[in-house]
Amino acid sequence: MPSRRLKGLVLAGGKGTRLRPLTYTTAKQLVPVANRPILWYALDSLVAAGIDDIGIIISPETGESIKKSVTAWKPSGVKITFIVQSEPAGLAHAAKTAEAYLDNSAFVMYLGDNLIQSGLLPLVEDFRKNTADAQILLKPVENPQAFGVAELDAAGQVIHLEEKPKEPKSNMALVGVYLFTPVVFEAIAKIKPSPRGELEITDAIQMLITMGKIVQSHPMEGWWLDTGKKDDLLEANRMVLDDYCQTNIQGSVDSQSQLRGEVEIGVGTIVKNSIIQGPVRIAENCVIEDAYIGPYTSIASGCQISKAEVENSVFLENCVVSGLQSRLEQSLLGQGCLLTKAPGQPVGYRLMLGDHSVAEIG
Ligand code: G1P
Repeated sequence: MPSRRLKGLVLAGGKGTRLRPLTYTTAKQLVPVANRPILWYALDSLVAAGIDDIGIIISPETGESIKKSVTAWKPSGVKITFIVQSEPAGLAHAAKTAEAYLDNSAFVMYLGDNLIQSGLLPLVEDFRKNTADAQILLKPVENPQAFGVAELDAAGQVIHLEEKPKEPKSNMALVGVYLFTPVVFEAIAKIKPSPRGELEITDAIQMLITMGKIVQSHPMEGWWLDTGKKDDLLEANRMVLDDYCQTNIQGSVDSQSQLRGEVEIGVGTIVKNSIIQGPVRIAENCVIEDAYIGPYTSIASGCQISKAEVENSVFLENCVVSGLQSRLEQSLLGQGCLLTKAPGQPVGYRLMLGDHSVAEIG
């Protein structure tokens, strides 16, 4: 049997309500993890698995910013096709929107807000050669209610799948990377919208099982994160820094400063009289002065941090943080946030937060 042709399909639409307020101005797939948009990790992973024809589902609202980011990612030798999904009507609806682009090819569907540690190559190679109609990845989780959940028989065969069950039959969650043959479109045509009003890909896979098709499951090796919420995003930041952060100093660091562990400092960044305890990634054109930057912190370009201690946090571009009395921890700051000491004698908190901002203060 000749091996299957495989295209990639990355889902980068949706509203990202769980990451507001960041997602009022940014697509959730473009929120950075270790200073790179989450989406880039999905694209890297497909390319590393030998896939060079990739469709990207975008929404009318954030599609332009996704296109710009993909141009900055600069794929070489990769064909990219953007496909607009007119409304966020579910993952199976997104797949259906791409049916013409997929043109009868088997495909890897990758949710653009998922981040996985292990490479896809063995999985893709296996699917290219075998006769399964679909292949899913499973990972045990502590909160299966938040995911698609698989029930397996004693031999490890998937017997039933359910989207966000109230009473999960197992703790095996569906990872957001799926391999399909075009037969999935027959299954999608048979399913109805779920209680949340969406055509669920989990229901389509369940339909494949009902139709007697072969659905294979693989245990997911390594870590997997769905970066839909703040704490997941900080966790993803920690994982990526642990795996990829490597000392590389391109900016200037004065003799009063100390760098410990793996620290990356971008071009044009100035570090003065500060301690940086890696893993820490600081992008270009930042100023760090009289500060402590603790482990698992990613700082995007143009930030200024002075007289402050920060740790385990992600800052987007052009934030200013100065004169803090306590350490800033587990925080996610959107672009251009200003966090400074109140003038004069501080009397309580003075905040101007965007809609749906979260401030935990003690
Ligand atoms: C989606 C899928 C779910 C899957 C999850 C993986 O959930 O519906 O089955 O387990 O992605 O990230 P959503 O992110 O839409 O809540």
